[in-house]
Amino acid sequence: MSELSVNHLLGIKYLTKKDIQLIFETADHFKEVINRSIKKVPTLRDITIANIFFENSTRTKLSFELAEKRLSADIINFSASQSSVKKGETLIDTVNNILSMKVDMVVLRHPNPGAGIFLAKHVKAAIVNAGDGAHEHPTQALLDSYSIREKLGTVAGKNVLIVGDILHSRVALSNIFALKLQGANIKVCGPRTLLPKYIESLGVSVETDLRKALEWCDVANMLRVQSERMDISYFPTTREYTQQFGLNKALLQELDKEIVVMHPGPINRGVEITSDVADSGQSIILGQVENGVAIRMAVIYLLASKIK
Ligand code: CP
Repeated sequence: MSELSVNHLLGIKYLTKKDIQLIFETADHFKEVINRSIKKVPTLRDITIANIFFENSTRTKLSFELAEKRLSADIINFSASQSSVKKGETLIDTVNNILSMKVDMVVLRHPNPGAGIFLAKHVKAAIVNAGDGAHEHPTQALLDSYSIREKLGTVAGKNVLIVGDILHSRVALSNIFALKLQGANIKVCGPRTLLPKYIESLGVSVETDLRKALEWCDVANMLRVQSERMDISYFPTTREYTQQFGLNKALLQELDKEIVVMHPGPINRGVEITSDVADSGQSIILGQVENGVAIRMAVIYLLASKIK
């Protein structure tokens, strides 16, 4: 039987193309399950999962929680802001205390890059990275590629554009790794100040003219400007950013083809994308969120099968 090459999901960087194919095939099965009238399977009745969130989240937190419930796992939810972390408890002490309650898997969101990698070295549980600072957000990249595959039939050979704050985006980095593994062509577009100097070494091309970049792509993944990770100004004003890098209906109508529009959320409407694009038939934004549950069920199921 096929299994993942890894015991933790710490980043797309550590996955193989076969791992991604296996996750997608497993997600296909779970997508069928969550569209039945009874959306639940008893598969993980003997597994306990802790969702440990040190950063705010809507989609990822709820999506993991729902995925775990659909698989019949027992779950506990930990939010750092309401915990003894506020009294000075360390990450390892916090997690080891939670694990002593017989927990098998930890889903971790943390503001520090590498937090999941660090934890995997020091605690006895399967670790799933639910976003570590500006480093990786592997399940987001998996659900993004899965949504492209669902919409366009395949990811291989497709031209995928990632627009916005590439510098601070874990979604961009994980997407680049995932799309490369699957044979997509990748371009990034944004203000020079928000494009890392090393970006081309990852095998992606750069375009600072959004109109030209849109002409090239089959898919445009619009990213939010991550103001919470900025301590200096990277562009003059939000208005100028929107004029140069915001996606609006007029721009889309000028193209001589229809492109697929994506966004990982949360959206800043009127900044990186207008409402008439986000809510249009070209947008698969809510489809991405739906697919997130199936992808996370697949990841949890495949990792759990390695600890049984
Ligand atoms: N896409 C994403 O990670 O959203 P949340 O921050 O709401 O989880």
